[in-house]
Amino acid sequence: MAELTRRGLLAGGVVAGVVALTPAASARAGETVVPFHGPRQAGVATEPQAHAVFVALDLRKGIDRDALARMMRLLTDDARRLTQGRPALADTEPELATPAARLTVTFGFGPGLYAHADVKSPIKPLPSFSIDKLEKRWTGGDLLVQICADDPLTVSHALRMIVKDARSFATVRWTQRGFRRAAGTQPGGQTQRNVMGQLDGTANPKPGTPDFDLAVWRPDDTTQLVVRRIRAELETWDAADVVAREFTIGRRLSTGAPLTGAREQDAPDFAAKGAHGFPVISEYAHIRRAHVGDPRLRILRRPYNYDEDVTAQGHADSGLIFASYQADIERQFVPIQRQLAEADLLNEWITPIGSAVFVIPRGCDEKGWIGQEVLS
Ligand code: HEM
Repeated sequence: MAELTRRGLLAGGVVAGVVALTPAASARAGETVVPFHGPRQAGVATEPQAHAVFVALDLRKGIDRDALARMMRLLTDDARRLTQGRPALADTEPELATPAARLTVTFGFGPGLYAHADVKSPIKPLPSFSIDKLEKRWTGGDLLVQICADDPLTVSHALRMIVKDARSFATVRWTQRGFRRAAGTQPGGQTQRNVMGQLDGTANPKPGTPDFDLAVWRPDDTTQLVVRRIRAELETWDAADVVAREFTIGRRLSTGAPLTGAREQDAPDFAAKGAHGFPVISEYAHIRRAHVGDPRLRILRRPYNYDEDVTAQGHADSGLIFASYQADIERQFVPIQRQLAEADLLNEWITPIGSAVFVIPRGCDEKGWIGQEVLS
């Protein structure tokens, strides 16, 4: 049967149609360029690209504000060229500068960078949460470079160029690679599934709306980023049936609709009671614990899946590089994470193993560089 289907497909017009569509679709994905210049850095409100690498660097001893300014001039120049599909200065593989494939390079400053610059840091590391099993190899960092594009080779080239230019100033602390659906595999703007199979991103504030701006941006056009590496315990998750999985989140797996609604974007009714008088969306369901009404307290989640080497026993090493942007980590992220750490059914199947915080400085124009207002 499998053979028949395969042969049928190979001979049939279905495959011909797919083949005809694929090159055009991928060419479009490759050609798109995201502007680098502007008051706000790209890579936050940008619709998430298919591939990402987050690299955190530790500044070398003795790197002061002047040295930091030199480094950020250099790295900004790399980013402004590469994101526009142009080779970096002294690019060793200039032919890899295209396609830009919606490449964005976003810089983040950790508390340690401010200490090197002798400037008061606007952020501090997160408090510890009872659910944390943090590993040093995924935690902290002075400088973050978030590189996202719809093509993995574009990402790897940008990473190499930038790290090469940074390495006389800093050493690499950790590298985390993540992915979402490949470009062109589903319509833009549609919510994606994560490695646990859930539609993830439904209740995010929508870019271009006043609520989004209130949640994400500060008046000085900076934002703050939390990166948490969260392992998904897929072996035990596999053992949970659909009812348990849906009860845990408070939404249906098939459609992403809340348990009290029919469509994905229906507002959850947290007051609704079932036949036995219990809430339909449990007191401990992830969406109830994480929900906040006030737009100033919401967060923008822009997570990537990770999936590393399978163990010898055949177990996955998968989860989320959970990246959330908010105007104020203390005001927005910390209370939500506290609520979740206290009592979220999902805790049974997820374990935070890495954590880092960064300020995303404002963007710059053609003559400027990222971090100018902090470092000059
Ligand atoms: C909602 C999964 C970690 C905050 C959701 C939803 C899913 C989900 C499936 C429902 C659909 C949606 O609105 O996106 C996960 C998984 C996680 C994780 C698999 C870890 C591996 C976190 C963390 C936070 C968080 C660490 C924040 C500290 C939220 C918020 C919502 C949400 C704010 C929207 C709640 C609302 O309806 O207002 N998450 N989540 N999640 N999650 Fe998570």
